[in-house]
Amino acid sequence: MLRIAVLASGRGSNLQALATAIADGHLPARIVGVFSDKPACGAIAFARAQGLPAVALAPRAYPERAAHDEALFSAVAAVQPDLIVCAGYMRIIGAAALERFEARMINVHPSLLPRYPGLDTHARALAAGDREHGASVHAVIPALDAGPLLSQVRIDVRPHDDAASLAQRLLPREHALLVATVGLIATGRLRLFPGHVEHDGQRLSSPLMLGADDRLTGA
Ligand code: GRF
Repeated sequence: MLRIAVLASGRGSNLQALATAIADGHLPARIVGVFSDKPACGAIAFARAQGLPAVALAPRAYPERAAHDEALFSAVAAVQPDLIVCAGYMRIIGAAALERFEARMINVHPSLLPRYPGLDTHARALAAGDREHGASVHAVIPALDAGPLLSQVRIDVRPHDDAASLAQRLLPREHALLVATVGLIATGRLRLFPGHVEHDGQRLSSPLMLGADDRLTGA
């Protein structure tokens, strides 16, 4: 059983999607801890309500970023995760913490990376006149939203979309993407290595794509 630690700063809908898939028997994994920089966030409330181990450490209690990272990631290490899923964790993670968990950390990001790393992805896709938008799951490396891509899901941009409607339509597809991607990791078909990802033993050169049937396939 894949042991997953989830890092989140917000409402926690991706965490809930993972927890639901596990409860429904669709994902052979176990959430061994939920970690946050925001003690009052929805993800932590959900974790506590579910009886999942939850640790939230506010950065202001620490003199500097490295000290906060060290405290939070020591708590993560204590639950011995096979995989760390960043699901809306809104802090930049320092290199020391990333090294400790090299090739064991993924992030879900609401854009078709390499387009739009960082914030306000929906508004930026609209401002650029993109006809397609989407979400990506990638390995976490020190550069922001830039590690090797594992998987993506695409949605069409509609003529009257605004950032809110686009975000709302993308979110359920993002959840399906994360669940399917973690599923392939849990069954050993998708494997992370320092600097690259392998699918069924082959180095992945372009991300797997999520179909309407919620399955991931190669390009
Ligand atoms: C998601 O869109 C995620 O991709 C982004 O922040 C949002 C988090 O949503 N980075 P939630 O907290 O999982 O509901």
